[in-house]
Amino acid sequence: MGMHSPSSALDQLMRRAFALAARGPARGVNPQVGCILLADDGTVLAEGWHRGAGTPHAEVDALSQLAPGAARGATAIVTLEPCNHHGRTGPCAEALIEAGVATVFYSVSDPGPASAGGAERLRAAGIAATGGVLTEEGEALLGDWLPAARLGRPVVTVKWASSLDGRAAASDGSSQWITGPAARGDVHRRRAAADAIAVGTGTVLADDPSLTARDEQGSLLPEQPIPVVFGRRRTAPDAAVFSHPHAPLFYDGLELRAQLADLHARGIRSLFVEGGPTLASAFIAAGLADELLIYLAPMLLGGPKLALGELGIPSIASAMRLELRSVERLGDDLLLVAQPSPTPSTAHTATAAKGH
Ligand SMILES: NC(=O)c1ccc[n+]([C@@H]2O[C@H](COP(=O)([O-])OP(=O)(O)OC[C@H]3O[C@@H](n4cnc5c(N)ncnc54)[C@H](OP(=O)(O)O)[C@@H]3O)[C@@H](O)[C@H]2O)c1
Repeated sequence: MGMHSPSSALDQLMRRAFALAARGPARGVNPQVGCILLADDGTVLAEGWHRGAGTPHAEVDALSQLAPGAARGATAIVTLEPCNHHGRTGPCAEALIEAGVATVFYSVSDPGPASAGGAERLRAAGIAATGGVLTEEGEALLGDWLPAARLGRPVVTVKWASSLDGRAAASDGSSQWITGPAARGDVHRRRAAADAIAVGTGTVLADDPSLTARDEQGSLLPEQPIPVVFGRRRTAPDAAVFSHPHAPLFYDGLELRAQLADLHARGIRSLFVEGGPTLASAFIAAGLADELLIYLAPMLLGGPKLALGELGIPSIASAMRLELRSVERLGDDLLLVAQPSPTPSTAHTATAAKGH
């Protein structure tokens, strides 16, 4: 809920700024941001939006359309708090101050440790800066960029498919396919929505997965996640992952947190971890799983190939409690969506020292 009624002029302008923001690229290092500059009498002086890393921020894009001095006394409506850091372009707070803008309304506060503080900087220069305009809509527009910026790493979803008795493969290691076509279709749609997809070297060696997102006919979906392989063992040069439309990234997996930060720096906001059990367990034990997707097939496999391995939980009292978000039937299978509780951010700090 914003601080204004849904029909207020400010809300309408902010929604226009959201629409401008949405013209920018939805993936990558930088968020989608829109900006409108208004004259005293409410006429629109300029509209701007951010077109991706290395290009001007929305505020600067809007200001650049005006003659020097033309923004004096103007009001800026911005979807994200003006940044306060010197990146590839100068800080937007400074640009607004220099242009003589008098009032700033923004939707979402900047979460970045390096870029936050823009509103304070504006206020120190005598500009009336007010945030919280349609925050929910502003946050929805930013998608995974916002939680990823808060965490300093991609948002991580860990997925596995298991039998009802919690096995991720049969005794001989074969696991294709535990679930049916409806569940697999759901996985492929979620792959396409993620920026990157990860597996461990064990899965690459056992299954030679292509790590692509495909439709029922096996054709590639328009959006493909970047394939990421964690582990020290070498991947054979003729492995299917090398035929992926994106070049695969390789990490040894020894410093998961730092390696996730590296993925984030490359513009990856969401990571879909598809296993296997060793890698999935490492992410969960390190407090790096924000969401779990568990596809349960009505079958029993028995044997030693458990869906998860060691999590460092010695007794039932320290069980990792999950909040069940949804249960859905997909063909004959079930999809359970769960989140570690209580809150991911405190859980991360508590388990961060464990590593793997
Ligand atoms: N049912 C499912 O959803 C599903 C999904 C995927 C796979 N599978 C099955 O799982 C089996 C393979 O299991 P797996 O556990 O060997 O596969 P895995 O988790 O894909 O690979 C394990 C390897 O990942 C590497 N690794 C990278 N970072 C790590 C970290 N932080 N901690 C621990 N290890 C890390 C290690 O390799 P290095 O020794 O090279 O460093 C480790 O041996 C196959 O049978 C496959 O069919 C099932």
